[in-house]
Amino acid sequence: MGDRGPDTERPSNFYDSPYLAEYYDLWVDANKKTLKAQEDASVYLSALERDLVKGCTRQLSQDNPFTVLDVGTGTGRVLVNLANDAVNAGIDLSNVELIGVDIEPAMVQRSKDIEKETESMARVGKVTWALGEAVSLTSVPALQDRLGRVDALIFAVGSISHLISPEEPQLFSSQVATLLTPKSGRAYLTIQNDLIQSRSISSPPLNTDITWLEVNAQDFPSKLHPGIIYKQYPLEKSEIKGQIRTDNYRFQVVRKADSGDQEVIENNNITLSLRVWDEAEFVQWAKNAGLHCSEIITGDIETYYVFKLSDSQDIPPVPRTCVSPATIFS
Ligand SMILES: C[S@@+](CC[C@H](N)C(=O)[O-])C[C@H]1O[C@@H](n2cnc3c(N)ncnc32)[C@H](O)[C@@H]1O
Repeated sequence: MGDRGPDTERPSNFYDSPYLAEYYDLWVDANKKTLKAQEDASVYLSALERDLVKGCTRQLSQDNPFTVLDVGTGTGRVLVNLANDAVNAGIDLSNVELIGVDIEPAMVQRSKDIEKETESMARVGKVTWALGEAVSLTSVPALQDRLGRVDALIFAVGSISHLISPEEPQLFSSQVATLLTPKSGRAYLTIQNDLIQSRSISSPPLNTDITWLEVNAQDFPSKLHPGIIYKQYPLEKSEIKGQIRTDNYRFQVVRKADSGDQEVIENNNITLSLRVWDEAEFVQWAKNAGLHCSEIITGDIETYYVFKLSDSQDIPPVPRTCVSPATIFS
């Protein structure tokens, strides 16, 4: 068998097999310093402290919980971090509901598995993982009785860039507006700094050198499947056409026999297409849906845009902060 594996090459989007779901976590872990993979945890914990602990005025109960919806939840990283950090901070999660939605069954399954291994998740009032698309969230069965009742909606690590079709950003904004709790609900939508082509309302990123996709030749031994090695090959192509950046690379799942022989059992040709954003256009789509940008937080890797439902003629100017524990939502 050749170095590049069998003829059974499959086109892949980076998330669409159980092996890729494990690889995603190993990849994030291996790149956590460059990606500042935990930077967002402090932002979402601060948001929870402000909106649940200090700011929630309604009477919460298990039937009327504080609801956090994580869109494109992947392997549940954001919700798991949030539960861990909240428990460590002594926050009572018994009247909190966490809902993770993802378009890929393999990612949803891995979230469910990780939940079972995570003690803090057992302290959360209710946890739901569901299959669903960002542009049609309101048709996800688990969300049908959550319209106007989502307190915090998160689309983390710039995953909103997966909305590459022309109509998708507007459709997604409308879904957000339908789901958020009037007045108090907030959406935390982030864009990777290197995918913001033009900024009009926020400051420039603090660090423009970092690109989020670092792909070099690297092996990742599976922790779940004995004898399985994930082989990542270097980026083959990266191009920007219009507002879409497309990266291509190969990723193989290899089974190593005791004899030392290697068999390629999944040969992925990964194409990752991401939207490059014009900030004014992004905010305008949200505005068309009835949302206004209430805060902007600039991180080293991504910019967080916080949206609320517009409820007044008199919209205050957007406060801007940088990610640092002392300044977020102070
Ligand atoms: C970069 S990963 C982020 C995973 C996780 N939120 C995190 O922060 O680690 C992006 C995730 O978005 C999901 N996704 C992509 N397009 C989507 C869509 N249209 N609707 C819902 N999920 C989507 C992918 O399947 C993938 O799990």
